[in-house]
Amino acid sequence: MHHDTVISSHGLTRRFTVKKQVVEAVTDLSIDVRRGELVAFLGPNGAGKSTSLRMLTTLIPPTSGTATVAGHDILTDPAGVRSRIGYVGQGSSGSFAQRVRDELLSQGAFYGLGRRERTERTDELIASLDLTDVASRSVQQLSGGQKRRLDVALGLVHAPEVLFLDEPSTGLDPQSRANLWEHVLTLRAQHGTTVFLTTHYLEEADRYAERVMVMDSGRVIADDTAAALKADLAGDAITLVLDDETQLPVARSVVERVAAVSAEQPEPRTLAFAAPSGSALLPTLLRELDHHDVRVATATAVPPTLDDVFLALTGRTLREADAPGGTGEDAPAGTAGPATTDTRALEGSTR
Ligand SMILES: Nc1ncnc2c1ncn2[C@@H]1O[C@H](COP(=O)(O)OP(=O)(O)OP(=O)(O)O)[C@@H](O)[C@H]1O
Ligand SMILES: [Mg+2]
Repeated sequence: MHHDTVISSHGLTRRFTVKKQVVEAVTDLSIDVRRGELVAFLGPNGAGKSTSLRMLTTLIPPTSGTATVAGHDILTDPAGVRSRIGYVGQGSSGSFAQRVRDELLSQGAFYGLGRRERTERTDELIASLDLTDVASRSVQQLSGGQKRRLDVALGLVHAPEVLFLDEPSTGLDPQSRANLWEHVLTLRAQHGTTVFLTTHYLEEADRYAERVMVMDSGRVIADDTAAALKADLAGDAITLVLDDETQLPVARSVVERVAAVSAEQPEPRTLAFAAPSGSALLPTLLRELDHHDVRVATATAVPPTLDDVFLALTGRTLREADAPGGTGEDAPAGTAGPATTDTRALEGSTR
């Protein structure tokens, strides 16, 4: 284990038994996350993302395997882990009669911050997560998105070393999502906080995470930077439209030789293929085509998305995989259901 490792798990596995049926939610999760990394966990509903986070945050015990988080063992020293992490759960119910500002202050007190420190943190978080207008409202009066922003603020009060966020941006409007990300990135820049989050917004993971883990059916099936995953697994989608349909056979042989992939013909004058660094091939390809007197009307290159990566890995797209109602007890992504942190209301062990 590298000395900078803050999350390290070995063979973490979690099974649930529901009506005598055994579901293996997470199988053999073995990961290492270094200090200050921002890791995004992607995967369809029921992939095991929340269960992984709940094991790492000591909310539920693993069926087997173990992990160390912020220097403490989740099995032998769960209290040590909890004192150093922040956790914002995906959503459970809970509405408090307490006012937003007081809620943050009590969370600060719960984590042992002095009066001055917790007041400062509270006011800072209220401002940066855009809660000023609702600071004196009671929590149960907030909209779904406002509640979500409060959840995130609650997870940040004690400036944790490692922050776990389960779908922090789900249900937020674009402006709030942007504010939330700004806050997370600032936090990381100022305190070197390690951030481990799940999201169904692929563009967010692509843009902000320096490392992406893709989970499917309980297993991590890819773990790399978004750029590397896209380059290795998906490649740019290139489309060439020719002036003259009769030149297609020549064009195809040139394309297949230069790109070393087979091309499709979605329309009579069109050739399409996907290739790693396909856009870098374009100039050579166009020169070769010109050399063979093939006239190209248009050439387009579309870079891959993380959805293309998932498609390449599983044969399904994440959007399709997520379409039918999700599994588990969690609210489906996309709804701004009631949500709260589990930082205080830790669930009982359910081994
Ligand atoms: N408490 C539980 N009891 C029984 N089964 C559970 C429990 N929690 C999770 N599961 C099952 O474990 C699997 C993984 O669920 P998990 O909540 O970890 O998925 P997820 O990747 O977070 O999905 P989502 O994107 O919908 O939040 C699912 O099949 C789910 O039904
Ligand atoms: Mg989940």
